[in-house]
Amino acid sequence: MLKVTKAVFPVAGLGTRFLPATKASPKEMLPVVDKPLIQYAVEEAVAAGITEMIFVTGRSKRAIEDHFDKSYEIETELEARGKEKLLDLVRSIKPRNVDCFYVRQPEALGLGHAVLCAEKLIGDHPFAVILADDLLDGDQPVMKQLIEVFNHYHSSVIGVEEIPLSESKSYGVVAGREWGESIVKMSAIIEKPSPEFAPSNLGVVGRYVLKPRIFKHLRELTPGAAGELQLTDGIQSLLSEEQVLAYRYAGTRYDCGSKLGYLKATIEFALRHPEVREDFAQYLVGRMPLAIE
Ligand code: G1P
Repeated sequence: MLKVTKAVFPVAGLGTRFLPATKASPKEMLPVVDKPLIQYAVEEAVAAGITEMIFVTGRSKRAIEDHFDKSYEIETELEARGKEKLLDLVRSIKPRNVDCFYVRQPEALGLGHAVLCAEKLIGDHPFAVILADDLLDGDQPVMKQLIEVFNHYHSSVIGVEEIPLSESKSYGVVAGREWGESIVKMSAIIEKPSPEFAPSNLGVVGRYVLKPRIFKHLRELTPGAAGELQLTDGIQSLLSEEQVLAYRYAGTRYDCGSKLGYLKATIEFALRHPEVREDFAQYLVGRMPLAIE
């Protein structure tokens, strides 16, 4: 059976729920404490045994390439100043056994189109899709959990979690029947339904393991209302010929595509960061009771 060794990171989206202060910086470069979101996503992929990272970038998204590139200037400077710890940190951004590839998505035509842009680099292999603005934290890295399910059932797997029905318009929502622990055998998936049309309260989080057959279905899609090709619609079409599973991952999601989720992630990750955790906790305690003006 083919191993999952490739991951696609679509980073060309506009991020309209959280427009960064600078148009030049994609939201995936926003740092949570001391690492950008895209770095957390790549580390999650590495922990799942993935070695080929495929970034689907777009106009003004070049910061991602610079981030994972070798940085001679910074390294030389840190070496000259004897800053060994920082040097190790800079060098660990892209582990040696990891290769990065970049594809441009000429226009923001949706998540399905972004994934389709990576088709030639993926070929006939199963692959992961990771949306870096969903920061997922689990005792076991969440992509590793999904790949274990994939290896067991040999079907595409989509990460889901229970969501308040009132928020169904922000998610792909799945229908299906319970099938073993934490697994739902999917019968349908709908992109951003209003609560009355949501087939369940299981919302898709930004983690997918897909079989390459998805490309055929994405190619045959016709653009939806906003002129975009939805990955969700491609998966719905894939369901007509292959089994697809939804998996309730073990862990916590921080929706860093929204201001509130991003702030929560910052607080949680700061409270466990060895360098700042104690001082930061003290600061927070000093802010209690919260004064909201
Ligand atoms: C995308 C997907 C949606 C999924 C969500 C998870 O939407 O289209 O199905 O539930 O990611 O974050 P977006 O948040 O990019 O609008």
